[in-house]
Amino acid sequence: MGYPVQRMRRLRQSPSLRAMVREHHLTKSDLMYPMFVIYGTKVRNPVASMPGVFQLSVDELLQETAKVVEKGIQSVILFGIPEHKDELGTGAYHENGIVQQAVRAIKKNYPELLVATDVCLCEYTSHGHCGVVEKGQVLNDPTLELLAKTALSHVEAGADMVAPSDMMDGRIGAIRRILDTHGYHQVPIMSYAAKYASAFYGPFRDVAESAPQFGDRSSYQMDPANSNEAMREIALDLEEGADIIMVKPGLPYLDILRRAKDRFDVPLAVYNVSGEYAMVKAAASKGWIDEKKVVMELLLSMKRAGADLILTYHALDAAGWLEERS
Ligand code: PBG
Repeated sequence: MGYPVQRMRRLRQSPSLRAMVREHHLTKSDLMYPMFVIYGTKVRNPVASMPGVFQLSVDELLQETAKVVEKGIQSVILFGIPEHKDELGTGAYHENGIVQQAVRAIKKNYPELLVATDVCLCEYTSHGHCGVVEKGQVLNDPTLELLAKTALSHVEAGADMVAPSDMMDGRIGAIRRILDTHGYHQVPIMSYAAKYASAFYGPFRDVAESAPQFGDRSSYQMDPANSNEAMREIALDLEEGADIIMVKPGLPYLDILRRAKDRFDVPLAVYNVSGEYAMVKAAASKGWIDEKKVVMELLLSMKRAGADLILTYHALDAAGWLEERS
């Protein structure tokens, strides 16, 4: 039975009808805000490729966190820029490393805010790769121990959740084991499970100072041409004990998000990454797009594709815009 009995426009006539049949909604609790912490005091370094994003020293980070809490954002994810880099990324798992200090400071001042930490070595290694390098190769198994130590040190500092982003095989299991051995059975792992070797991470590497010094990350991150492989990555991470799985980047991989949602009944996150943010910011600054409308449409597209949680640099702005609506 079609037209004229069926008229799709009937339910589009008024704001109240449209609201009544709206299928997807974005809420503040869907948003996780990434923040970058650096040594020093009163440091607030802007980053050209990511307007509105800063490298923040711990004191400044606390001020930013006040805004996050005030806006009603319920979770953040922290990235660190260490004072010194070395071959083994020791700054990543130092008891008094930059992320460890930041976690302690935030949890002391804002105990109710969920603090997740990115677990990776690339910001901390002199070569900029996400694992131990020998003869130009990124070694898998020796890296697992360092990642596990990093995750444990974050949790010991008070992190509520750890999020490994390195893409080594077996890291979820290694992290689960070390956390359980130390009594942290209740701390969840959010796995960057389907993480692609993407050009959209460019601006992030400016902020995090984590660009690889030789080669690229295609021997450990996924080939953008693959989709079945993402399902295998996710299944393996779940077997190893991941609690939340993530697809990254967001926009160019919404198909992967939808496949993951249809196939796995687990909480699903998506990372709306730095390059996606930079594109919107650049076009908006030229007046070519309406930033607010574009951002809200993009974030909604990720919800529609299946995301339960969106990591996004737009979180603070979006929270403000959500308030205007209600
Ligand atoms: C660390 C890491 C990266 C991102 C999150 N964690 C960069 C990379 O893999 O090079 C990218 C986030 C973004 O682009 O916003 N491995």
